[in-house]
Amino acid sequence: MKLLFLNGPNLNLLGKREPGIYGKTTLAQIEVMVQKRAAELGVAVDFRQSNSEGELVTWIQQAVGEFAAVVINAGAYTHTSIALRDAISATGIPTVEIHLSNIHAREEFRHHSMIAAVCRGQICGFGPHSYLLGLDGALSLIKTAI
Ligand code: DQA
Repeated sequence: MKLLFLNGPNLNLLGKREPGIYGKTTLAQIEVMVQKRAAELGVAVDFRQSNSEGELVTWIQQAVGEFAAVVINAGAYTHTSIALRDAISATGIPTVEIHLSNIHAREEFRHHSMIAAVCRGQICGFGPHSYLLGLDGALSLIKTAI
């Protein structure tokens, strides 16, 4: 079974970017954590990042038939992207929304997620651990086939 982890804009800067909010762990280190846990669980993970909204849309479209579920930290596109929302909705691929920070405890413009309503669930506020919770969440969706 394969899962697709998608990371949106500026997440390539993790480690250096606003460490008071996002911590000092880099995206490469998060990927190592995710791959280790996935290997223990016998699951294959493809872990990608793009600053381009269109590339993320294309990857969601292409995920159908190849991946059992998507785990996405859409970064700022979370709050703006009807295109990402439509891609998740159009493909129907089970998707888990994740964030490092608690978006509901931050600026008001971060409280609304464009993709939340078409995702199966949302995890936020656990720092890098949000990714491991996202992995667990995606697997529970697949196992219970809801
Ligand atoms: C984020 C939260 C978003 O509001 C922000 O634009 C990001 C990161 C998070 O992981 O906490 O880029 O998705």
